[in-house]
Amino acid sequence: QDVLNVGIAGLGTVGASVVRLIAKGDNRLAQASGRRIRVSAVSARTKGTDRGIDLSAMRWVDDPIKLATDPGIDVFVELMGGAEGTAKQAVEAALDAGKAVVTANKALLAAHGVALAKKAEAKGVALNFEAAVAGGIPVIKTLRESLLGNEIERIYGILNGTCNYILTRMADEGLSFEECLADAQRLGYAEADPTFDVDGFDTAHKLSLLTSLAFGTLVDTKGISIEGIRSIKPVDLKMADELGYRVKLLGVAQRTADGVEQRVHPTFVPKDAAIAQVNGVLNAVAIDADAVDLTLVGPGAGGNATASAVIADIADIARGHRTAPFIRPVAQLTKPTRAPL
Ligand code: HSE
Repeated sequence: QDVLNVGIAGLGTVGASVVRLIAKGDNRLAQASGRRIRVSAVSARTKGTDRGIDLSAMRWVDDPIKLATDPGIDVFVELMGGAEGTAKQAVEAALDAGKAVVTANKALLAAHGVALAKKAEAKGVALNFEAAVAGGIPVIKTLRESLLGNEIERIYGILNGTCNYILTRMADEGLSFEECLADAQRLGYAEADPTFDVDGFDTAHKLSLLTSLAFGTLVDTKGISIEGIRSIKPVDLKMADELGYRVKLLGVAQRTADGVEQRVHPTFVPKDAAIAQVNGVLNAVAIDADAVDLTLVGPGAGGNATASAVIADIADIARGHRTAPFIRPVAQLTKPTRAPL
């Protein structure tokens, strides 16, 4: 059977899960996509670490940028993170070399998604990023494919698992912000720099990608008004509870007379609203459109959930499936009201 050779850069929580789940699902993936998916080469910062995965059949490449252009791979999977530096250079190098790219890197796409999508289109290769937004929830595919018959009015949701985990435990157990954040880090939910989570930037990055796909805007974070959860205290959540609310960090994008408005802030949500019941590391994305309104709920962070999305993107490439990226805007964003990210 034909083989799709995959190179993975970054073997943290997500990368290790991708390796493990591809090995586990070998036959199923081959049957579904028509090609055997093989992780042929990997790259990570440290070689000796015990990640609980078998790397013996894979070539080790020290330099992720070399891996990106390695003649032995068809797909480059970028799981290093970071909007600039090595991750950006490696993705650019892979696309320039005509390799399909799968990335979970929302910060990179929020900053450079349009330029990268242009490169991918010029080379006729896929740039897939299901794992970049809301972990295991298939919202990118939903917007790119399933809802194409809809005009979307509003898209909003809980897009950061770390913040939702922290807010849930603070509300339900009265624990401190710091304690909950430390647990989220230990569980592998938080970004390498958790400031991105708790100050709302990660939500803003993800929102900018959803906005672009939902409304046909260029990916742009400059106009997003952002407030995170750092200053919230257990007592605030207790008071919200007494008044009949849960507090959720929401990312919201909606049409206005001046264009599509994007914002990120903690929100009082009535307890009986569906989104108020989305707790812990779960994320939710609600889409209000002219033909359907729907809410997707699922795990927003963590190795296996995110790996599930990465693998779906790889399988799409194995099937030869390619969808249009976000480079020809049909709608405008509202003017920035705050300093850029
Ligand atoms: N740090 C992110 C979160 C990981 O907590 O949602 C998934 O993007």
